[in-house]
Parts: sequence; C-alpha cells; structure tokens
Amino acid sequence: MSRINVMKPWLGADEVLAVTEVIESGWVAQGPRVARFETEFAAHMQVDFAVATSSCTSALHLALIVAGIGAGDEVIVPSFSFIATANAPTYVGARPVFADVDLTTGNVTAQTVAAVVSAQTRAVIIVDQGGVPVDLLSLRELCDRQGIVIIEDAACGAGSTYHGRSVGAGADIAAWSFHPRKLLTTGEGGMLTTNNRDWAVRARQLREHAMSVSASDRQGSLLAAPEVYAEVGYNYRMTDLQAAVGIVQLGKLPEIVRRRRELAERYAGVIDGIPGLRAVADPEWGTGNFQSFWIDVQPDFALDREGVLAALADAEVSARRGIMAAHRQPAYRDRCDGAVLPVTEYLTDHTLILPLYHDLTLADQDRVLDTLVVAASVQKCGAA
Ligand SMILES: Cc1ncc(COP(=O)(O)O)c(C=O)c1O
Repeated sequence: MSRINVMKPWLGADEVLAVTEVIESGWVAQGPRVARFETEFAAHMQVDFAVATSSCTSALHLALIVAGIGAGDEVIVPSFSFIATANAPTYVGARPVFADVDLTTGNVTAQTVAAVVSAQTRAVIIVDQGGVPVDLLSLRELCDRQGIVIIEDAACGAGSTYHGRSVGAGADIAAWSFHPRKLLTTGEGGMLTTNNRDWAVRARQLREHAMSVSASDRQGSLLAAPEVYAEVGYNYRMTDLQAAVGIVQLGKLPEIVRRRRELAERYAGVIDGIPGLRAVADPEWGTGNFQSFWIDVQPDFALDREGVLAALADAEVSARRGIMAAHRQPAYRDRCDGAVLPVTEYLTDHTLILPLYHDLTLADQDRVLDTLVVAASVQKCGAA
C-alpha cells in the first residue's frame, strides 16, 4: 500500500523548461521574470500593483511597514492561523491582538473583530483560512469608521473568490504565499498586492535594501548611477528562477482550482453523510480553492481527532492536525492577556486536514473515504 501525502505540488516539464531558460539566460536573481510575474499576478488577482517577495511572511512585514504600523499600535489577527500572521505585527513592534473566528468558515468576522477593537487598533489582518474567503465587506464599515487598515493574509487564497472577484482584491493590501503547501508554488516565495501606488513603490524599494536603483537596473546600464539608501531595508527579493516557475504555475491555477473543487465535492459527498463529521464548505459570499480540505471531528463521533488521525495513518494516509492556535504557543502565551477564544480552541482541537492535491487519484481518495466510513461504523458498534 503506497503512502498518500497530504499535499503534493503540481510541477512538471513546463516548469523545468522555464527554469532551464532562466539558467541559460545567465540572469538568475531578481530581474525580468520577476517583473513579468508581478504584472501577470496583478492582472490575475484584479489589483493594480504586485510586488514579489521572498515569502508571504516578508510580504506581511512590508505591508505593515508601508501602512505605517509600528510600536504602540495594535493589530488584530486571528490566533487560528499559521504563526506568521501574528509574527508580522510583532516584527514592527506592534501588539498582535487575537480575535476569535467563526465555527463554519474558520475566519474572523465583524463581530469577533469588533469585540477586541481598541483606541490603539491600527490594522486588522484577515486570513482566508485554508482558502475559505473571508467576509471582507462585513468588516469594511467597522474598519473605515475607525481608520483601521485591512490587510488580507491571502497566503492560502490564490484562486478563491469573494463576490465574484479574486480574494485580496478588496483589501487595502494583501499578502500571498507560494510555499509548496499552497496551490501555486515557487518553492518559497510571496507577493504583496495593493491598489495604492505609494505603498507599492515603497514596498518595492524596501524588499531590495531600500535601494533607490534596483539591482537589475544597475546591472542593465553600463555606467550605473550611484544608489541612495533613504531608510533601512531588507533582502526580501524573489529570484528569476522562482518567478519563472511562478509564471507557469499561475497559468495552471484555474485548472488546479477546478480539480481541487472537483475532489472536494467528492469528499463532501461522502463525509456530509457521516454523522459526527463536518466538512469545510463554500460560504455564501464566495468560492474556496480548498487549499486545505479540513473536517471537524465532532464530540459525538466515536473516535476523537487523534483517533481518526491514527486510523488514517494505519491506512498509510498522511493527514494533518488542523490549523494551530498562535495564542497557545510559548511565543505568545504570556502576551495575550487571557484572550478568550473558544471557537479557535475548538477548531484547533477537533479539525484535521485530509489529503488533497491535483494528482490525487480517485482510488487514493476512496482509501481516505473508506477509512472514515470504517471509523464511523466503529462508532455505530460502540453505541449499540
Ligand atoms: C495563513 C498563513 N499566513 C502566512 C503564512 C506564511 O507563508 P510563507 O511560508 O510564504 O511565509 C502561511 C504559511 O503557511 C499561512 O498559512
């Protein structure tokens, strides 16, 4: 029985060819491919500007800097997210304040954010958790009234839609990840998108040591003008090797989303009929890319979440515990003023992520489903 992994990127001959062309061109660092990837990504995500970065984490960091967030400010974030969401405000000296999430979507809502807004709140980082689109419009009124910047952590969201547009398009700034756990990968990598020209220009400089002349422009001229460093910047650059892969992957994104949604529907068709299990689903305001297909192992199911994970492991299925809760980690445990996050804690303790990737075969998916059906029948025997 071969092992079924939780995720496998869809990479192939086109990516190999694209990387080969970059190597043969002799220009492997940030250059023309990065510029092209930015242009195509911005068009695809329906925004004016895209700035490629080394990761989503670095894009979040730059987003907070260009939005003017710093020491003494509070930034509302879900604890129910990969820890990078909470780390970004910490990098700029701001305080991450944890908001709870909605049980169905796993995302923050206007109510959970309003519950923790204070006079110090300057920004909120909303997350499309597992690719489920966050209900941005419900937060707009609250945030606009108080001058709170909305930053969308769309790390998982490429290919998800919100009211018919790409997620991220309606936020003040969005940050994206191209880690291999995401639909679109460049190995490591990220993107910052915004419609604010000034923010895009500053982010573009900051990601490259805040140089006034980019390395590729200097390299392209015979007598380069001396560059000026007006502020302290970072090396958050993407390479042309990565961008070449990203351009190919972006072209494949609609097909990746279509396939994932097809497999997700097949999962849900069985899981929705198993009492005690609940599968993630599209919210009424958009469509998800099913970056993570998570299920909630409810308390009335005979096996608890760890038991289901063990049953899947016995069937050589590598599932994963659901999303972490940052406020429980040593890095934040002592700095969150006794945050009360019951839904976050419930979801962190009861959800698990099932394998879902482009090349997942129906036979392998059936093995996952059969394991869940058997686990459910154990429950029936136990209850009899
Ligand atoms: C919600 C969220 N934000 C941020 C990140 C960090 O992305 P990266 O690894 O590209 O820095 C991740 C990665 O898993 C994530 O899931």
